[in-house]
Amino acid sequence: MADFKIAPSILSADFARLGEEVDNVIKSGADVVHFDVMDNHYVPNLTIGPLVCEALRKHGVTAEIDVHLMVKPVDRIIPDFAKAGASYITFHPEASEHIDRSLQMIRELGCKSGLVFNPATPLDCLKHVMDKVDVILLMSVNPGFGGQSFIPETLNKLRAARKLIDESGYDIRLEIDGGVKVDNIREIAEAGADMFVAGSAIFGAVGKDDANDYDTVVGAMRAELAKAKV
Ligand code: DX5
Ligand code: ZN
Repeated sequence: MADFKIAPSILSADFARLGEEVDNVIKSGADVVHFDVMDNHYVPNLTIGPLVCEALRKHGVTAEIDVHLMVKPVDRIIPDFAKAGASYITFHPEASEHIDRSLQMIRELGCKSGLVFNPATPLDCLKHVMDKVDVILLMSVNPGFGGQSFIPETLNKLRAARKLIDESGYDIRLEIDGGVKVDNIREIAEAGADMFVAGSAIFGAVGKDDANDYDTVVGAMRAELAKAKV
């Protein structure tokens, strides 16, 4: 089976018990902590910053933390997240005046770098920076909120991005974010994704008191991925 990564988005977790929520979801077999940073400027919502990332590390989280910046500008805040323990730092090309520079900065600080494409943003700028990205993240909803429905056109975009990656020969992850559920994850994998963000499907569909509840949904996602023809 391909090396698939499941990345629960903590946007849908219980923030009052965040450390425990992350521990439980990782114990249930998830791979990566997806960390949504929103600024009420680039997107119409406000969430969490480097202090919370650092707090998760201090709590003992050792899993990779995938920081998805939905902020503008990005350069001022990138070093803070690197220092706070981010593993991946991704940003939207519209949010940086100097995309190449921001990507370089992320790698120089020891993190994996990536670009995020909104549903209607073309992949064009990628071809000039394929050597500087470790992950390409396609939004399958408009960014800002959890719990939205997967936009089906993203499947075509995934196929196009998969082709770009395969033709480039670089080792680049293809991540998908928005509306990923047990019932569509297999189709998304077959379109080329290998890293799957899921917020409401994981944190929302189960009771919050029983750590083992997350096993069911993460396990069901893995079972679907095992059936994917890739
Ligand atoms: C949306 C965020 C997503 C969000 C996904 O702007 O980037 O990571 O949490 O949530 P679901 O899985 O509920 O669509
Ligand atoms: Zn996200």
